[in-house]
Amino acid sequence: MARFSCFLLSPFAKLFKQNCAVCHTVTDQKLTGPGLAGVFDRAPKGPWLHDWIMDNTKLIKSGDAYANKIYTENGKAAMTVFAGQLTDADVDAILAYIKNPPAPKTEVAGGPAAGGGEVKEEKGGIDPLYLLLGAIVIIAIIIGALRSVRHALQNSYNRKEGKEDMPEVTFGEEVKAWISGHRRLVGVFAILIIFGGMKSCWDACYDLGVYYEWETQKGYHPEQPIKFSHKLHAGDNEIACQYCHNSVEKSRHAGIPTVNVCMNCHKGIQTGPEFAEKEISKIYAAAGFDPKSGNYTNPQNPIKWIKVHTLPDHVYFNHSQHVVVGKQECATCHGDVKKMTTVEQKSPLTMGWCIDCHRKTEVAMEGNAYYDRMHKALKEKYKGQYDVKFTVEKIGGLECAKCHY
Ligand code: HEC
Ligand code: HEC
Ligand code: HEC
Ligand code: HEC
Ligand code: HEC
Ligand code: HEC
Repeated sequence: MARFSCFLLSPFAKLFKQNCAVCHTVTDQKLTGPGLAGVFDRAPKGPWLHDWIMDNTKLIKSGDAYANKIYTENGKAAMTVFAGQLTDADVDAILAYIKNPPAPKTEVAGGPAAGGGEVKEEKGGIDPLYLLLGAIVIIAIIIGALRSVRHALQNSYNRKEGKEDMPEVTFGEEVKAWISGHRRLVGVFAILIIFGGMKSCWDACYDLGVYYEWETQKGYHPEQPIKFSHKLHAGDNEIACQYCHNSVEKSRHAGIPTVNVCMNCHKGIQTGPEFAEKEISKIYAAAGFDPKSGNYTNPQNPIKWIKVHTLPDHVYFNHSQHVVVGKQECATCHGDVKKMTTVEQKSPLTMGWCIDCHRKTEVAMEGNAYYDRMHKALKEKYKGQYDVKFTVEKIGGLECAKCHY
């Protein structure tokens, strides 16, 4: 039931998958943490499990015997603290899920080959959607055959009795009559088929580059109100990107500098190598600066920069997460801005583009104690067996909700 179990996945299962599955299975299999089958029997009774999941470090520090025992047994690998992330109700739901995990349905192929202790995809067997479609085709053929047999029998009986032949009802009319007699059954089948179709589209989304949009967007570089050159500033004069895009390491937005930032230098630098005073005077007009008196006496008039990169509103993208935590270079996504006189869009910004990088890129581990430990544990566990790649995908970077509101 690989395909169907996916959209029948309960919200409980989802909570477990999102928060715990990277380190635990609900079977005996050990990942970074112990397999959770039978944990209700071995762990202390009462609120212990709840407390442990919320804040395991607190329990360990409190001297709790069982907590310290499993902590040592697992090589002092740290479990995430979930207080503040999960509510009490979430934890109860997760516990309910661990208590009654879904029965394993099909043979699991490949084992933990993915390396990161992902929840295993159930492979093997034939996709039930095809089985369903196959069954429908066979049933249709049988109905068709039975129908003509019945028709012939009825007619020969009628003739024997001296009655008239059966009226010629078309197959379509007969089907219509049957459907109106079996509305509920038809409804159930329709829903199954629609859901199956939606799931396929869902999966296809991942692989969709939506590249036709990129064709029109490629190399987009609008004329800006001031001929500001990155080549001159970030290239020739080596001004750091962060000097102007100063929120790039702190927030989701890189930010476009206000005119005050330009004035830090251009109060003094009043002519440029290419346009002399012409372009720089536009900065003064925006800042309300009078270069003759050196005072801000004129009316202000913010510069209306034209946005080059835009994501649709339903997408969440965070610069600091990529630049600081993920250690990605500006140039990986924006190209060599230091060489551009006008900024140009170098990456498609499609979903396929994001996903592709999340599948390939390993999470930056160095200097991050939490990842360090987890990574070491995984490398140790699969030593010589698998090439352990701890990609963004493994920390949930392909989950719809991470990127979509
Ligand atoms: C980063 C890895 C990691 C994550 C994520 C994680 N755990 Fe753990 N968990 C561990 C480790 C490691 C242990 C063993 C104790 C130790 O070393 O701290 C453990 C122990 C446990 C135990 C005790 C097991 C036993 O055999 O007694 C339970 C229960 C548990 N975790 C539940 C959860 C639940 C529920 C979640 C999700 C909400 C979760 N864990 C998320 C790593 C993790
Ligand atoms: C002196 C200030 C300054 C510096 C230094 C600077 N930028 Fe900019 N940047 C701007 C301004 C002003 C704009 C808006 C005008 C434009 O698009 O050219 C901009 C626009 C951009 C854009 C396009 C934004 C959009 O609209 O989508 C990107 C990408 C960018 N900068 C990247 C960089 C990178 C990477 C560096 C470092 C190599 C850098 N910038 C250094 C001032 C600066
Ligand atoms: C850290 C200092 C610094 C900042 C901040 C700065 N500039 Fe400049 N700007 C320079 C330097 C240096 C030059 C080149 C002067 C030269 O070579 O003669 C220059 C030149 C220019 C020119 C002249 C181009 C030409 O070829 O004629 C323009 C236009 C310009 N800057 C716009 C801006 C704008 C708009 C901002 C704010 C977004 C800004 N600058 C921020 C240092 C800066
Ligand atoms: C992982 C890819 C990626 C990296 C790395 C990256 N950016 Fe961006 N950048 C984007 C995307 C995507 C957008 C469009 C964001 C939007 O529309 O919400 C963007 C937009 C911008 C903008 C427009 C203003 C804004 O905040 O939306 C600027 C300026 C910018 N980036 C500068 C930088 C600088 C400077 C760096 C390096 C310090 C950098 N970016 C690193 C992907 C990236
Ligand atoms: C050049 C590679 C690259 C591209 C392109 C990229 N990302 Fe990422 N992304 C990363 C890395 C690396 C991380 C891991 C950061 C960390 O360690 O938390 C990440 C993490 C994330 C996360 C957090 C995932 C999690 O599980 O916590 C989100 C959300 C995200 N990216 C959104 C996007 C979106 C939206 C786009 C496209 C507009 C995009 N990314 C494009 C490299 C990339
Ligand atoms: C790593 C980030 C990321 C993840 C994960 C992600 N998306 Fe997207 N998605 C995007 C971006 C970026 C766009 C905007 C693409 C564009 O404008 O061309 C997008 C666009 C879409 C669109 C609009 C289609 C379009 O052409 O604009 C749909 C629908 C969508 N995503 C559904 C999903 C579903 C369903 C999932 C989970 C299976 C998912 N997304 C996971 C980043 C992501």
